[in-house]
Amino acid sequence: MDKSAIDPHIERILLSNSEIISRVKEIAAQVSGDYRGKQLTIVTVLKGSVFFAADLLRFLTIDRDIDFVCTSSYIGANSVSKVQLVADLSSNPKGKNILLVEDIADTGLTLNYLRDNLKERGAASVAVCVLLDKPAARKVAVEIAYRGFTIEDFFVVGYGLDYEEKFRELPYIGVLKQSVYNNK
Ligand code: XMP
Ligand code: MG
Repeated sequence: MDKSAIDPHIERILLSNSEIISRVKEIAAQVSGDYRGKQLTIVTVLKGSVFFAADLLRFLTIDRDIDFVCTSSYIGANSVSKVQLVADLSSNPKGKNILLVEDIADTGLTLNYLRDNLKERGAASVAVCVLLDKPAARKVAVEIAYRGFTIEDFFVVGYGLDYEEKFRELPYIGVLKQSVYNNK
């Protein structure tokens, strides 16, 4: 990519848009094979997963629909991080085959919470699909059925991922410069 096209806050590009899109197409083909003959509901975890879920939805070749949830994390009793639902699905998950689509598995807390929540509410199946997996940051185990890329423990932005709501629009995924945090 043309160096001048890189946002000045980005240290380096980790994944170019074409690398991301080719991987999303591969995942879509795999998911389409696995769910052939079934109706699949894509549950997108807002906001970071919107680009990933939209591209995945485009490349799937099976019957599918899309819904959205939004979560937030807070520090609960004993300094334990807790996840809560701040916006729920538009329809009941009971009996549905759900693909939980998340931008990144970091501590694993969000995905664990959502998977348990959807199962408790009677989903027929819940599988997890992440674009990025950062295993070094994991606090709770999470079973990932579809994984785009495994990355090291960097803070990344772009293709939906943000730092303080910025950089989501970047077409690539890049490592944010340390100076962006330090100059706060
Ligand atoms: P868990 O619960 O797995 O949370 O810790 C995953 C959520 O944390 C955010 N996250 C990031 N966002 N760059 C980001 O822009 C990162 O490197 C990063 N790591 C974690 C993200 O919102 C994800 O949904
Ligand atoms: Mg997120």
